[in-house]
Amino acid sequence: MAQAEKVAAPTPRLTEVTHPLVRHKLGLLRDVTTTTQMFRQLVNELTLLLTYEATKDLADEEVEIETPLEHTSARRISGKKVAVCPILRAGVGMLDGVLSLVPGARVGFIGLYRNEETLQPVEYYVKLPGDIADRDVLLLDPMLATGNSTAAAVETVKRAGATSIRLIALIAAPEGIERLHRDHPDVSVVVASVDRQLNEKGYIVPGLGDAGDRLYGTK
Ligand code: URA
Repeated sequence: MAQAEKVAAPTPRLTEVTHPLVRHKLGLLRDVTTTTQMFRQLVNELTLLLTYEATKDLADEEVEIETPLEHTSARRISGKKVAVCPILRAGVGMLDGVLSLVPGARVGFIGLYRNEETLQPVEYYVKLPGDIADRDVLLLDPMLATGNSTAAAVETVKRAGATSIRLIALIAAPEGIERLHRDHPDVSVVVASVDRQLNEKGYIVPGLGDAGDRLYGTK
C-alpha cells in the first residue's frame, strides 16, 4: 500500500555547499589561468553538485514496483514539476548541469543585463513556460552580486505566477544575499561560496571575474 506523500521539510534560506568536490572545483574556477573550455566544464559540474543540494526537499512518494526478482516499494518524485530559468547570458552556462539531473524540466529564459554605470538591471527578453505557476522554479545566476538583477528575475517569475522559487548561484556577495532576502524572503539560495564583498565596480571579490566573459571567451 502506497504511503502518503512525504511532506517537504522547510528549506533554509541560504545553503553554502562545503563539499570537498565543490571547494576543489570552485578553486579551479576562480583561477585566472583556467581556460574557457575548462571553465565551462567546471561550471557544468559545479551546477550539477549544487542542483543535488537545491532539490533535496522536492516532495516524493512511495510507489510499488517489480524488480526482476520481486515486488517492492520505491520512492518517486511527486508534486510539482520543475522549471529551470537561467538569467541570460551567464546563467545559460549552468543550464546543462541542471538538466543532466532533471532532464524533464521545462526551460525559461530571462534576459537581463546590468547597466555598468547604475548597476541596475535592464530586462530585454523573457520567455517562460506557460504553466510556471504550477512548477518549482530553479533560477540560475552564477554571480549573486548586488542582487539587483536576481531580484528583478524573481519579480519576473513571480509576476508569471511562480510561488516556489530557488536560486542556484556559484558565488554570492553578502550584499546580494541581504538584498535578495530582504525583497524576497521566500526564495531559498544555494551557493558554492559566500565571498567577502563587492568591490567599487560591483564585482565580487575574491570572485572569479566576469562569469559571462569567462564562459564564452569574450572581453
Ligand atoms: N557578475 C560577474 O560576472 N562577476 C561579478 O563578480 C559580479 C557580477
